[in-house]
Amino acid sequence: MAAHGLVVASLLIFCLAGSCYGKVHFSSLKNTLDVTASPKQGQVLEAGTDKITVTWALNKTVSTGADSAYKTIKVKLCYAPISQKDRAWRKTEEELSRDKTCQHKIVAKPYDASNKTVQRFEWVIEKDIPKATYFVRAYAFNSNDEEVAFGQTTDAKKSSNLFDINSISGRHASLDICSICFSAFSVVSLFVFFYIEKRQGKASSRK
Ligand SMILES: *[C@@H]1O[C@H](CO)[C@@H](O)[C@H](O)[C@H]1NC(C)=O
Ligand SMILES: *[C@@H]1O[C@H](CO)[C@@H](O)[C@H](O)[C@H]1NC(C)=O
Repeated sequence: MAAHGLVVASLLIFCLAGSCYGKVHFSSLKNTLDVTASPKQGQVLEAGTDKITVTWALNKTVSTGADSAYKTIKVKLCYAPISQKDRAWRKTEEELSRDKTCQHKIVAKPYDASNKTVQRFEWVIEKDIPKATYFVRAYAFNSNDEEVAFGQTTDAKKSSNLFDINSISGRHASLDICSICFSAFSVVSLFVFFYIEKRQGKASSRK
């Protein structure tokens, strides 16, 4: 009985800690934002030097007041399906907290419902953006920091209006390898420490 209570309590804490709260699914978002990005279909841009100009605005066909909950707009750079293939770390998930499609923030701006003019931002592609095929998506967040709406430069299938970013240094591949090595190293060292600890424990208990 006590154990049962403990499970319930820990589940509750788990939920309060945010894993049950705010499970927003992409399919629940309304496509109300008109988003554009300067790169043309198939254009190749260089990370670290080239710029992308993004614009966003509320679609004029949306009923008035639809944006009343919008507090922030976050514009992100997102992997096109071709660059997600065989890469679990870029996988699209329906549950947005787990989604890895849009990992690179371009800009976040407060949303002003009284100002319907097109918002614009010019972004120099950061050096550490990996070489891949991308599109741009904007999310509207409410005051609870939950996604409520979106807009993107590509179609629903993510097949049109895609562009490429070229990473001059090819840093990404080496970074990937690096992080794999580091995780392997940390697992190994954990075991080594465990072993040393145990041996020392044995040695001192023998004394
Ligand atoms: C606004 O939304 C309508 C309906 O979804 C769509 O047909 C139209 O293309 C959108 N406008 C822009 C500028 O994207
Ligand atoms: C509306 O947004 C535009 C573009 O960001 C800005 O230049 C303008 O000052 C804003 N107008 C008001 C009234 O805030």
